[in-house]
Amino acid sequence: MTWLDSIQMVSANEIAVITKAVIPVAGLGTRFMPVTRSVPKALLPVLNIPLIQYAVDDAVEAGITDIAIVEDTKSVGSYFHSMPDLEERFRQGGRDELADQMVEISSKARITSIKQLEPLGLGHAILLAKNFIADEPFVVILPDEILWGDHSSTAQILDVRDRYGGNVIAVTETSWDDVHTKGIVAGPSVEPNVIAIEEMVEKPKRQDAPSNLAIIGRYALEPSVFDFLSQQRRGAGGEIQLTDAIIECMDDLPTHAVTVDAARYDAGVPEGMFGASLHQAAKDPIMRQMIVDFAAQL
Ligand code: UTP
Repeated sequence: MTWLDSIQMVSANEIAVITKAVIPVAGLGTRFMPVTRSVPKALLPVLNIPLIQYAVDDAVEAGITDIAIVEDTKSVGSYFHSMPDLEERFRQGGRDELADQMVEISSKARITSIKQLEPLGLGHAILLAKNFIADEPFVVILPDEILWGDHSSTAQILDVRDRYGGNVIAVTETSWDDVHTKGIVAGPSVEPNVIAIEEMVEKPKRQDAPSNLAIIGRYALEPSVFDFLSQQRRGAGGEIQLTDAIIECMDDLPTHAVTVDAARYDAGVPEGMFGASLHQAAKDPIMRQMIVDFAAQL
């Protein structure tokens, strides 16, 4: 008998509160070459805000206080360092608003940098944060998945975790033409927008995919996932896959997927980043008019 045979809700006070997040940013960013030769994808901006700031905001809104950024030799974590000289300069120039923004960015959460010197896969990047996590449940946020809704997408998966415990991941319906590029899940619905995962497969062929529900970069995980990541087995693409470790945990842990209520942009590719930029630009009257004028010329 597995946990699926006896689905039951757990009372919220049995579940440890999550305060830690891991944000891995050490991938090669191949689909965003050539800029990613020297600029980490997580520092690419939607207008003037880099992807990493949206990811940290998503975490902080969900109550996260401690964040490990897993990065390669290019520093992403330093974006959140305090910059007293710059702040002072802005204050002296009467630009308090900018100075306040500098302070706000450096005080969002406690940020720790962890180095992944070889891109051995998402699972490997998460494994490197094992000591930082120290046997607590935690969240993983992929900054190139932009999810903008009324509530942080991380908060949405934590809300479901409060009811069911175990591992919870965010998903969205994707085109059947894309399933071979994604982690795919399937299982019975337990409430609107929530399924109990029965099947989970990384990058299936279209004909083998059990559904078109794709994993989209927000995970609430129990620390037992490290037991499987530590075995460092290579999965799809020869990489150490987080999905494989979550599958290994499924015999012992409730595992749910939430279709999050958010506008989604895949900022791992230029067209997704462009869509996200349009989304934000449309909120500003001047830029909105620029979009309208430009569209009229097309
Ligand atoms: P992706 O699968 O999007 O890979 O990684 P990527 O390297 O960023 O981009 P492409 O596919 O080459 O274009 C998902 C997330 O996992 C991180 C990435 O930085 C991204 O945030 N990652 C991936 C690591 O931190 N380390 C890895 O070894 C692989």
